[in-house]
Amino acid sequence: MNVAGRSDKLDKPYGAETIPPVRLPLDMGSLVEAFKHILDRVYSGIIFCDKDSKILFMNRFYASLLKADREEAVGKHIREYFPLSRLPVVLETGQPELGKKCSLRTNLALLVNRVPIERDGETVGVVLQTTFRDFTEINDVMTRLNLLEKEVNFYKEGLDSILSATHSFESIVGGNKRLVDAKRTAEKYARTDSPVLILGATGTGKELFAHAVHLASGRRNGPFVCVNCAAIPRELLESELFGYTAGAFTGAKRGGKSGKIEMAHGGTLFLDEIGDLPLNAQAKLLRVLETKKIERVGGIKTFDVDFRLVAATNKGLREMIHRNEFREDVFYRLNTMTVEIPALSERTDDISALVHFFLKSSGNKNVEVSESVIKMLECYSWPGNVRELKNVVMRAVSLIEGDTFEAEHLPMEIVRFQSDCPDPTPSHIGSLSTELKRYEKKVLAQALRLNNGNMSKTARLLGISRSTLYEKCRAHEL
Ligand SMILES: Nc1ncnc2c1ncn2[C@@H]1O[C@H](COP(=O)(O)OP(=O)(O)OP(=O)(O)O)[C@@H](O)[C@H]1O
Ligand SMILES: [Mg+2]
Repeated sequence: MNVAGRSDKLDKPYGAETIPPVRLPLDMGSLVEAFKHILDRVYSGIIFCDKDSKILFMNRFYASLLKADREEAVGKHIREYFPLSRLPVVLETGQPELGKKCSLRTNLALLVNRVPIERDGETVGVVLQTTFRDFTEINDVMTRLNLLEKEVNFYKEGLDSILSATHSFESIVGGNKRLVDAKRTAEKYARTDSPVLILGATGTGKELFAHAVHLASGRRNGPFVCVNCAAIPRELLESELFGYTAGAFTGAKRGGKSGKIEMAHGGTLFLDEIGDLPLNAQAKLLRVLETKKIERVGGIKTFDVDFRLVAATNKGLREMIHRNEFREDVFYRLNTMTVEIPALSERTDDISALVHFFLKSSGNKNVEVSESVIKMLECYSWPGNVRELKNVVMRAVSLIEGDTFEAEHLPMEIVRFQSDCPDPTPSHIGSLSTELKRYEKKVLAQALRLNNGNMSKTARLLGISRSTLYEKCRAHEL
C-alpha cells in the first residue's frame, strides 16, 4: 500500500518528528488503509483484536511502547504481549472496561480502555486503547494515582480509628472496690439505650469508660463518634454537632456538611467535657434527644437520628447550674445513669498494677519495680490521676538503664512530696530554722536510705552536687 506515498517510513521508531503529514486517498477502496494510516498518527496506543483475541492491527505508538515489531505481531494472541490481558474476558462478556490499570513487561503501568466491537449483536473483536500520550505522562499520572491511593487509605484508617471504640471494660486496669463497682454499673447501663454520664477528675479514665460503654452496648458495631466540647471553638461547636446547610453562613461548604450527631447514627455519640457545651447548643441537644430528629444549622428540613449519648465531665455540673452555666433540664436528662470514677489518690491499691501495666505496654515487662518506688507513688497526691502516673512511668522508662525502676527515676516532686509529708502528731514544734534543719536531715536520711547510701544517686535524686551532699551529711552527722 502507498496511501500517503511514504509507507516505508511508517516502521521507524515512534516520534512526532518522524511522522509525515497525512494525505487522504481520493478513492474509497483505500479508506481502510487510510484509517490505519491515521491511527498511526494518534498519540495513543491502539490494538484491534479479532474474536479469537488475535491481533489484527497494532499502531505505531503501541509497537513503540511494547518495543514490538508490529508486522510480526499480526496474528499473534494478545496474551503473548500481555500475559494477564483481560481482552478475552471482554470478548466473552461484551462489556467494555474503561480506564483500567494494566502493567507492561517493561514495568510500565498504563491506563487502558477495552471496547468490544459488535456486529449483528455479536462481539466480533475488541479495540484496546491506551489513554495517555507518552511514558512520562503515564508515569506522572500513575505516580499521582498511587500517592492519592496511599493518602485515601491513610485518611480512611484515621477515620476508622475516630469512628470506632478501642477500649473495653477488660482493658480498664484496677481491682479497687470502688473502681470495680463503677465498671459493673457502667456495664449494666451500657445494655440500656439511655444517656450515660461519666464523672471523674481529669485523667481518671472517663474516655476509657466511654469506649467501654459503647463496646458493651448493642451498638458496638455502629460508629463511635467522639466530640471534645472543650477543644472546639464555641462558635463552631453548633455546626460541628448539628451540621449545616449550603449557605448557612459565610465560609460554609457548598452542599453543606453533616454534623457529628448524624455521623453517630446507629452508634454512640461521646460528648467529652460536656460542661463546656454552650447553653444554646445544650438546648438544641435536648431537643434532639427528645425528638430523635435533627435540624442542620440554617436548614428547615429535619432528619431522623438514632444514637446513644455518653457524656463526660470533670466539672461540677450542679454548681454550674447555680451559676446559670449549665441547663438544669439537660442535667436531669443526663443524670439518670451516672458513673463516678474515683480519683487515683482514693484507690492507691491500684497503683502497683497500673505501673506494671504501663511498663508492659511500653515493651518493658521485665523491668522490676523497687518497693520504695511503689511506696512513694502510693504516698503521692496524683492531681493528674492515671494520666499523670502513666507519664511518670513513661519518663522512668526513658531513664532506666538497668532492669530496676528505682527512686532516682522518679520526678523530684514525687520524692519531695513524701519527704514533705508533715509529722501527723508533732509533739513539739521548734523555731522555723530548727524545724527546717530537722526536715532537711529527714529528707537526706530518707534519700540515702532509698539509694542504699549511694552518694552519687542521692545527689542526683535531690538535685544537688555530690560535694554539697557530703557537706550536708557532715553537718547533720549522717
Ligand atoms: N484504669 C485504667 N487502666 C489503664 N489505663 C488507664 C486507666 N485509667 C486511665 N488510663 C489511661 O490514662 C490516660 C487518661 O485517661 P482518659 O483520657 O480516659 O482520662 P479522662 O478522665 O478522660 O481525662 P480528661 O478529663 O483529662 O479528659 C489514658 O492514656 C488512659 O489510657
Ligand atoms: Mg477525657
